[in-house]
Amino acid sequence: MSPQPLSGLFVTFEGGEGAGKTTQVARLAARLRARGLEPVLTREPGGTPVAEGVRALLLDTQHRPTALAEAFLMEAARAELVSGVIRPALASGRVVLCDRYDDSTLAYQGAGRGLDADVLRTLNRAATGGLVPGLTLLFDLDPAVGLARRAGASGATNRLDREPADFHARVRARFLELARAEPGRFVVLDAALTPEALEARIWEAVEPRLAAVR
Ligand SMILES: Nc1ncnc2c1ncn2[C@@H]1O[C@H](COP(=O)(O)OP(=O)(O)OP(=O)(O)O)[C@@H](O)[C@H]1O
Ligand SMILES: [Mg+2]
Repeated sequence: MSPQPLSGLFVTFEGGEGAGKTTQVARLAARLRARGLEPVLTREPGGTPVAEGVRALLLDTQHRPTALAEAFLMEAARAELVSGVIRPALASGRVVLCDRYDDSTLAYQGAGRGLDADVLRTLNRAATGGLVPGLTLLFDLDPAVGLARRAGASGATNRLDREPADFHARVRARFLELARAEPGRFVVLDAALTPEALEARIWEAVEPRLAAVR
């Protein structure tokens, strides 16, 4: 736990591949700038030099780490990002937009890879020091639609894209369970909507929470 109060707003973007998270990070950032707030944008895994190195390892199709090694690598990157970027930004009152965070570990390494949820929660708490987002936007979408969007956009696939359909179905279901368990933190979005409709819905969720940002 951090000794200093964290006065900013921490917003995380979660959901499956190609669900529209990165698109909406950029749109929300533009809305915040129009309000005179300069948000801090970051992503997981990544966001610091060490964590970006871990990201490259994790997404490379040449490697096949064990499930537990994958989880530890994610947590190593997370520990770097939280202490190096997210906590300092929140302490100085910034709005932080993070493209994936620790719910992704519970969904991908938990439901996807089959690791024990309690172990992953313990690792998450250790890596984050217990830092929980003020708002988590869950982009819920049929995985086939998300993967098709990605394939259409770049043609490139990463190591996780190549998992079978039932892997992505388990990930989606776990995200929805997590959202049901914490309705005060999560807003579940129908990611099949247009980018414009999603942007508006996200602003409805974020704007009231800006009152607390100094
Ligand atoms: N609401 C939407 N409807 C249709 N297409 C969309 C929508 N939002 C984004 N896209 C398109 O789908 C593709 C994936 O979007 P984006 O990169 O934002 O998703 P993501 O969730 O960040 O994906 P990734 O899992 O690759 O990080 C892009 O080509 C983007 O232009
Ligand atoms: Mg993205």
